[in-house]
Amino acid sequence: MNINDKIFAFLYDLVNQSVEPNLIDFRKMTAGYASGNVLEIGAGTGANFRFYKPDTQLTVLEKNEYMFPKIIDSAIRCEIDVTSVRGTSYNIPFADNSFDSIVTTLVLCTVDDLESTILEIKRVLKPGGAFYFYEHVKSKERIRGKFEDYINPMWRYLTNGCNLNRDLAEVISGSGFTKIYLQTHQLSVGLPITIPNIVGNAVL
Ligand SMILES: C[S@@+](CC[C@H](N)C(=O)[O-])C[C@H]1O[C@@H](n2cnc3c(N)ncnc32)[C@H](O)[C@@H]1O
Repeated sequence: MNINDKIFAFLYDLVNQSVEPNLIDFRKMTAGYASGNVLEIGAGTGANFRFYKPDTQLTVLEKNEYMFPKIIDSAIRCEIDVTSVRGTSYNIPFADNSFDSIVTTLVLCTVDDLESTILEIKRVLKPGGAFYFYEHVKSKERIRGKFEDYINPMWRYLTNGCNLNRDLAEVISGSGFTKIYLQTHQLSVGLPITIPNIVGNAVL
């Protein structure tokens, strides 16, 4: 039993509930735009399910075993058929060219092997398929970026592996997709704090 995974799954919706209304537009621009045979990586508690189009054939890949009861509850609540598979983004258990769309929201900050994850996403996407992403990223402001580097070890520990300081726009832009559409935003999390985010899609 991984106690950190268990606590993370138990607390995820509770901790996120105050910020979740601010994520709706980003979920619409990722899950809401995906179509056809869709793979969502790191589905967590299924927060994206209500945004998928009704005819979506949805498969989710999740590494935390304690998320699966929540995935099932969410699928029932949202009246969507979901095939859920336990596994990791850096070893996706599907054949090449399997999916029309792939979705990650707030996941690439956490994956252990980012480089292999991107290669795997490209491998299982069909030619012309789209990767939809919404992620928080390292600040471009020098002092703030340094601060994120400094507190990252503690942040990682407290958040079950999330990294505050990944330059995911750079990683996605340099990954060999043919077309990339990417917007940056400052997500308000209350108080005077905002977190830099990216949302967009990359076509193979
Ligand atoms: C911060 S949560 C985001 C959940 C959901 N996507 C959302 O938008 O609310 C990250 C999720 O990704 C999962 N995860 C982390 N690394 C993973 C990996 N390498 N492969 C598959 N799932 C992973 C975690 O277990 C967790 O459920």
